[in-house]
Amino acid sequence: MTEDLEQIAMENKVVVRDLMKVYKRGIKEVIALRGMDFEVKKGEFLSIVGPSGSGKSTLLKMIGALDKPTAGQILFDGHSLTLLDDKRSMMYRRQKVGFVWQTGNLVPGLNALKNVKLPMRLAGAPKGASDERARMLLTTFEMQHRMNHKPHQMSGGENQRVAICVALANAPELLLADEVTGELDTETTEMVMNALRISNREFDTTIVNVTHNPRVSSYADRILHIRDGLIEGQRHTLYGDITEIDAKGRMVIPETVRRLANIGRRVVLKVTSEGLLVSPLNTDELPNDISEI
Ligand SMILES: Nc1ncnc2c1ncn2[C@@H]1O[C@H](COP(=O)(O)OP(=O)(O)OP(=O)(O)O)[C@@H](O)[C@H]1O
Ligand SMILES: [Mg+2]
Repeated sequence: MTEDLEQIAMENKVVVRDLMKVYKRGIKEVIALRGMDFEVKKGEFLSIVGPSGSGKSTLLKMIGALDKPTAGQILFDGHSLTLLDDKRSMMYRRQKVGFVWQTGNLVPGLNALKNVKLPMRLAGAPKGASDERARMLLTTFEMQHRMNHKPHQMSGGENQRVAICVALANAPELLLADEVTGELDTETTEMVMNALRISNREFDTTIVNVTHNPRVSSYADRILHIRDGLIEGQRHTLYGDITEIDAKGRMVIPETVRRLANIGRRVVLKVTSEGLLVSPLNTDELPNDISEI
């Protein structure tokens, strides 16, 4: 049964379907996302937890339209991000999304107040209104006593709270946070996670927070676990097992698939309207190994 994607898109802020990302590294390909499916409700605080290399940052980049997926789609308020051209992607990032990264969100030469005002000024907001909102945000996150401090004059946790204010400056509907507490101690981590919670509750911002730290994820409304580019517990039916084709056109068929499909050392390839059909070839009368010829 095919799902009613339109209906699902209406009920959710973000819908991710069959999401796949393949990076090229020299002649080798890395499959970072293998067909992810999930939704984020409007106003939800979702944490995605997974080990290093599981595809967390890749996923956030796709949802933030900083990069395009290889296949699959992401719907934001029912609109496909993959169909946006460069200009519209930029508008989406500027108007709808706030980003908080592990490090380096702030402009080093500017104090906290100016850092928070900057995105508003760049978006064309008047000076007075920008100043007022920046002060309100910094006060909400208990940073009023650090408004005139530059990033190097503040602690890691303080820097992250200012970074959250910067991300919220233009009132984004979606906040994407990548390992924001990665370099902080336990107490500071709690402070920053509480700040994310405030962003979610008081400003009604939908949040997707990725982390490898399961403790941090407990601040969220819901937790998804990812591993090797897939949501744990989901077996992707569209792509099945993905395999790589190297520069010489050689395809590696995993051992388990070979066993299941009864594939020996030779296969028959047939191009069909569905794609490439790989069938086992009965090799009874053929030598098993090339060295036997
Ligand atoms: N630009 C890139 N080019 C090639 N490979 C990449 C690129 N970015 C990520 N990868 C690879 O894709 C996979 C997923 O990377 P990603 O950065 O999304 O993982 P992660 O879950 O965020 O890990 P971490 O917790 O260490 O930040 C990894 O194997 C990584 O090496
Ligand atoms: Mg990462």
